[in-house]
Amino acid sequence: MEDCKIAFIGCGNMSRSLIGGLIANGIKPGSLSAADPDSKQRQAITRQFGITTLANNHAAVVDADVIVLAVKPQIMGTVTNELAECVKENTQLTISIAAGVRLGTLSAWLGEQAAIVRVMPNTPALIQAGAAALFANEQTTATQKNTAETIMRSVGIAIWLDTEDLLDTVTALSGSGSAYFFYFMEAMEKAAINMGLNNEHARLLTIETALGAAKMASLSDFDPATLRRQVTSPGGTTEQALNIFMQGKLEALVYEAMRAARQRSVELSQTPGV
Ligand SMILES: NC(=O)c1ccc[n+]([C@@H]2O[C@H](COP(=O)([O-])OP(=O)(O)OC[C@H]3O[C@@H](n4cnc5c(N)ncnc54)[C@H](OP(=O)(O)O)[C@@H]3O)[C@@H](O)[C@H]2O)c1
Repeated sequence: MEDCKIAFIGCGNMSRSLIGGLIANGIKPGSLSAADPDSKQRQAITRQFGITTLANNHAAVVDADVIVLAVKPQIMGTVTNELAECVKENTQLTISIAAGVRLGTLSAWLGEQAAIVRVMPNTPALIQAGAAALFANEQTTATQKNTAETIMRSVGIAIWLDTEDLLDTVTALSGSGSAYFFYFMEAMEKAAINMGLNNEHARLLTIETALGAAKMASLSDFDPATLRRQVTSPGGTTEQALNIFMQGKLEALVYEAMRAARQRSVELSQTPGV
C-alpha cells in the first residue's frame, strides 16, 4: 500500500476527506495526485495536503495503481470514457464512490477487463467517521480488494457485501441514515424547546445524548434492544415515551421509509446516463 500510487478524479468533498484520511494514516503525499477542471478546487487540495494536482484526468491516472472516481454520477460516463484507454492498457484498480452507477455500466465504459470496486460511503467520512460498504467485480484481485478496503478505512469503517444489489439497501441505511438521525435530533430539540428549555441547552443536550447513545451502542456487548430495555424502568418516564413511539408504529414507519429510499436508489441507477 505504501508504494501504491493513487489518483483521485474530482477534487471535491469526498476526495478531500479520503486524501486527508490517507495522509493521516501515513501515506506519503507524493503517492497521491488529484485532477479537477476547477483550478480553485485544485489549489485548495494542493495547499491543504501538498499533493500534485492536474487539470487533465488522463495525465493524473497514467502512472496510477489506483484510480478513485469521485465525481457526480451524472458526469461519470464522460469521465470514464476519457479514461478508458488508459485503464484498458494497464492493470489499475478503479474505485467508484458514485451513488447508483452499477458495475455493469462502469465495465461497459471502462472495458470488461477493468478491476472495479464500487463503494457506498456516507457524509461522516468528511470527519473520518464514515461507514462504507464495498462490492468488487470478478476482475478485482485479493490485493486490490485489500487496497480498496484500506483506502475506505482511512475515513471510517468498511464492510464487504455479498451482492451488488445490497448497495441499494446500504444506500437506504448508512448512505441516507445520517439524515434520519439529524431529523430525530431536530424533533427532540424542538420538543424540548416547546417544553421550556432554551435553544442552546436543547441543542447541546440533544447532541450529547445522541453521541452518548451511539458511543454506548458501539462500545457495548449488548444489542440496541437490550440497551434500550436497560434504561427503561417499568412505570418510569422512558417507558411512557417509548409507549408513544410504539403506539405510533415507529418501527414500521422506519421500515417503510428505508424501503422507499432503497427503491429510489434502484430507480436512480436505471436512469439513462447513469
Ligand atoms: N459527499 C458525500 O457524503 C457522499 C456520500 C456518498 C457518495 N458520494 C459520492 O461521491 C462522489 C463525489 O461526491 P462529492 O461530495 O465529493 O462531490 P463534489 O464535492 O461535487 O466533488 C466532485 C468534484 O468533481 C469535479 N469535477 C466535475 N467534472 C469533472 C471532470 N470532468 N473531471 C474531474 N473532476 C470533475 C467537480 O468540479 P465542479 O464543482 O467544478 O463541478 C467537483 O470538484 C459523488 O458521486 C457522490 O455521489 C458522496
